[in-house]
Amino acid sequence: MAPQRRHPAPTAPMACSLLLLALCLAPPAHGSRVQPTATTSKAPPAPVPAPPPPASKATTTAPPESDEFLAPHNKARAEVGVAALRWSAGLASAAAKTTSQQQRQSGCAFADMGASAYGANQGWASYRARPGEVVGSWVAQARYYTHANNSCAAGQQCGTYTQVVWRRTTDVGCAQATCGTGATLTLCLYDPHGNVKGESPY
Ligand SMILES: *[C@@H]1O[C@H](CO)[C@@H](O)[C@H](O)[C@H]1NC(C)=O
Repeated sequence: MAPQRRHPAPTAPMACSLLLLALCLAPPAHGSRVQPTATTSKAPPAPVPAPPPPASKATTTAPPESDEFLAPHNKARAEVGVAALRWSAGLASAAAKTTSQQQRQSGCAFADMGASAYGANQGWASYRARPGEVVGSWVAQARYYTHANNSCAAGQQCGTYTQVVWRRTTDVGCAQATCGTGATLTLCLYDPHGNVKGESPY
């Protein structure tokens, strides 16, 4: 399956847009490594009354902010009876390296994580989005997901949600970068990766 990627422009015409990106991984074929493909989906209008002023430089998320990422992940997991994730400084550092690179080289556009061994959820906002808000937008896909038949409603995307609640994933690390336009790129990396096609997350 060919990857479909939609890279937001550095200067988005739409105010307060929040885009999501999840990796969907194919099952291993004949013992070979899984071949990841990416899908994109557009979130409903973000419930933010007024965007804060643009930041002047890139920021990365340090361990004290890890709870802002971790808590909404683990709340969503607890709701479906899946064990909590633990924070990985190594994954957070790898995520920060990628978001910094995107900040410097491509105006905070989505990173191409197709070759990564980790699961990857991304969020792009035209404003400075808080970690909890971005993870919340991923978890909000749960409304389109039916566990009984492991399917997503037609025309919807569930991949960022299913990675959040993927049972075999044990570790997560995340980072954000903010561009001069005020846009925020958020990336969480998951180990082991989820979203293996044909498998149920939990
Ligand atoms: C899965 O179940 C839901 C809820 O019953 C239903 O709306 C949907 O069509 C089903 N999807 C598939 C692919 O069977």
